[in-house]
Amino acid sequence: MPAITSYYPPVTETPSLLRLTGLRREFPSPRGPVVALEDITLSITRGSIHGIVGRSGAGKSTLIRCLTGLERPTAGTVDLDGTDIPSLTGGALRAVRRRFGMVFQHANLLDSRSAADNIGLPLEIAGWSAEDRRARVAELLDLVGLTDRADNHPGQLSGGQQQRVGIARALATRPDILLCDEPTSALDAATTRSILALLRDLRDRLGITVVIITHEPSVVREVCDTVTLLADGRVLESGPIAEVVADPAGRLHRDLIPLPPPPLDHEGGHVEVALGDARSGTTSVDAVLALLRDGGVPAEVAAATLETIAGRRVGRIQLEVAPERTADAVRLLEAAHLSPEVAA
Ligand SMILES: Nc1ncnc2c1ncn2[C@@H]1O[C@H](COP(=O)(O)OP(=O)(O)OP(=O)(O)O)[C@@H](O)[C@H]1O
Ligand SMILES: [Mg+2]
Repeated sequence: MPAITSYYPPVTETPSLLRLTGLRREFPSPRGPVVALEDITLSITRGSIHGIVGRSGAGKSTLIRCLTGLERPTAGTVDLDGTDIPSLTGGALRAVRRRFGMVFQHANLLDSRSAADNIGLPLEIAGWSAEDRRARVAELLDLVGLTDRADNHPGQLSGGQQQRVGIARALATRPDILLCDEPTSALDAATTRSILALLRDLRDRLGITVVIITHEPSVVREVCDTVTLLADGRVLESGPIAEVVADPAGRLHRDLIPLPPPPLDHEGGHVEVALGDARSGTTSVDAVLALLRDGGVPAEVAAATLETIAGRRVGRIQLEVAPERTADAVRLLEAAHLSPEVAA
């Protein structure tokens, strides 16, 4: 009888454009090496928007510099579509760097140049003819919605418009990946939303892959498909937004579904409960309150957040119960497959 190798066709992985494996980066110091990145393994899918979050010093900038080949990892690989970036030098390294477009917190435009000429600058450097540049710049202005501002100088543009010019400039030479380092940190809430909508629109229209470094959970919530949380140079959590928000044990769950902290003088009677998580699935505040009431533990809602994130209804509520009934509340909630936690 012939051996049956498999009933199933081979599992096709999601097409990853960028794959990091066992990445490590140390910096020498008089007191021994400082490890900025340790054992970073993650992959970023083509055409997705990936967020990288983490506190100051977590290693975000070091990671980005390793991606673009500005810095060489101490160990590990950075594979861009089959090319190992850390092993490149000279012209090959310069060529691979052109596959990344960079967007920063401030667009850093040249004041002496119009919006159109700022956008055309990378094309000039790459040796495009004036005619080709004109056509490409017109296309880019249209893409970022600034056709009527082509001749304005940076001083005549709002912060959001300047950032649009910066994004157009980053896209000029048709990179595969747009790397955005805190792209909206200097913008107000409404402008932030419009820039995030633009990034999503560019991804949809151009199929470009976007990596966003941010300290703003709202940015991750609104625009990212997948996210990686770095802490002390390591990957603490990584995955699709819809999955991380449904895991009440994770830190991203809390970061992405924030609740106000309980008052300083509270006496241990606050219990937090995740809604719409992977275990219970319930999104009904009333159902949670009824469950406690029926169990003889009256509770009130002190704070609640309920949002649709990555198409999934999720939230957190903070319940106020009599301090001596906290343990009973936790027991009742756990029995119903909810994930309660006594607020510290
Ligand atoms: N050139 C360097 N020499 C020595 N140590 C460095 C160097 N660059 C970074 N580090 C250290 O590596 C760690 C990660 O730094 P990194 O700048 O990547 O953090 P970050 O997440 O970008 O922080 P931030 O949010 O403040 O920008 C820090 O402990 C930092 O002090
Ligand atoms: Mg940084």
